[in-house]
Amino acid sequence: MTEPLTAAPAAGANSQNSPVLMSTYARQDVAFVRGEGAWLFAADGERYLDFGSGVAVNVLGHAHPHLVEALTEQATQLWHTSNLYRSPGQERLAQRLCATTFADRVFFCNSGTEACEGAIKAARRYHYVNGHPERWRVITFEGAFHGRTLTALAAAANPKYLEGCGIAADGFDNIPVSEPEALQAAIGPETAAIMVEPVMGEGGVRVVPAEDLQLMRALCDEHGLLLIFDEVQTGVGRTGRLFAHEHAGIEPDIMAIAKGIGGGFPLGAILATEKAASGMTAGSHGSTFGGNPLAMAVGNAVLDVVLEPGFLEEVSRKAARLRQSLAEIKDRFSDLVLEVRGEGLLMGLKLNPDVPVADCVKAALAEHLLLITASDNVVRILPPLNISEDDIVEGTARIARALSKLTVPAR
Ligand SMILES: Cc1ncc(COP(=O)(O)O)c(C=O)c1O
Repeated sequence: MTEPLTAAPAAGANSQNSPVLMSTYARQDVAFVRGEGAWLFAADGERYLDFGSGVAVNVLGHAHPHLVEALTEQATQLWHTSNLYRSPGQERLAQRLCATTFADRVFFCNSGTEACEGAIKAARRYHYVNGHPERWRVITFEGAFHGRTLTALAAAANPKYLEGCGIAADGFDNIPVSEPEALQAAIGPETAAIMVEPVMGEGGVRVVPAEDLQLMRALCDEHGLLLIFDEVQTGVGRTGRLFAHEHAGIEPDIMAIAKGIGGGFPLGAILATEKAASGMTAGSHGSTFGGNPLAMAVGNAVLDVVLEPGFLEEVSRKAARLRQSLAEIKDRFSDLVLEVRGEGLLMGLKLNPDVPVADCVKAALAEHLLLITASDNVVRILPPLNISEDDIVEGTARIARALSKLTVPAR
């Protein structure tokens, strides 16, 4: 017999959690059983408009026919062989990623964290094999998020996430973003790389200005460092370009991607130039499931759609529409909404600090709209890239209805 979804919580458990799952997530009390495009259907038959895309994952919405076909076709052929053998799917996807980016080499893994850690490892090993084993430190930025493993947490240096995890891994110099002097001062003889998200998604949808990214590129060139972009959240069309760094007109040496490239199937990758990949020698890295045939079938299918002529232009057009509606919402609810932030279809509303962002997400859920929290009291808005114009109108109307239920408490 299946457990009722609202089974009584064990002592100490969060009421929205099953008593047999660890209480790591503050889950909303709704369970989805089916999805279609930008819409999700709950177990009770109610439908919800998805403006969260599973945190930037479902770039083509739910149950996209081309992805479904690619996955089911592959499922009848071959699921897994390991990386002990050649993989036509990996070779094809890597070739396409290299053809459309700065990269010459790709390593496939399963998640964003794994891609970020692999990117850090690639940078350190680059210096190691090139005669500079002392260069292992990585400059990272306050408010960053690179994942949940111990090293990824150390990289982002967020005390909230590091609490209780022992002494944080050494090798990271975490500095404020947009402070050129702090950046220059952080570079020393042990520095291997600078690592940054072009838009800090979890950190409050903070767009790193193009001039800051350009300065990082220039400093890396000057000091022989590698520039790592974490495009786990911003990549694969999310900001209206295939990768967000294209807006700044510069290229990294290494890039971590995940989320969107799998369209909902677990898939991550490290992309690198030939030079930056030189430390990733035989036996230096690996992943049992990384680049498995199912993931490759879906990854290639995602690219089929995202690389179609005109697709990214459409994303930018819809993003402009969304931004305009959000600006109107800000004007209408000026006491609640302090700022509209973001790039493309990765947008955020910074709320008045007296109104907890979780209240806004809850109010939106009551309007059957899914939104996502971010740091800095920002509510994140990331609809599927192929959302319809009508659904943007519908979603922003629901945001307005949700905000109309919130009040700023009197001081
Ligand atoms: C920029 C960035 N890097 C890394 C990660 C970690 O990815 P994952 O949860 O797939 O390990 C995330 C996840 O939100 C992210 O937004």
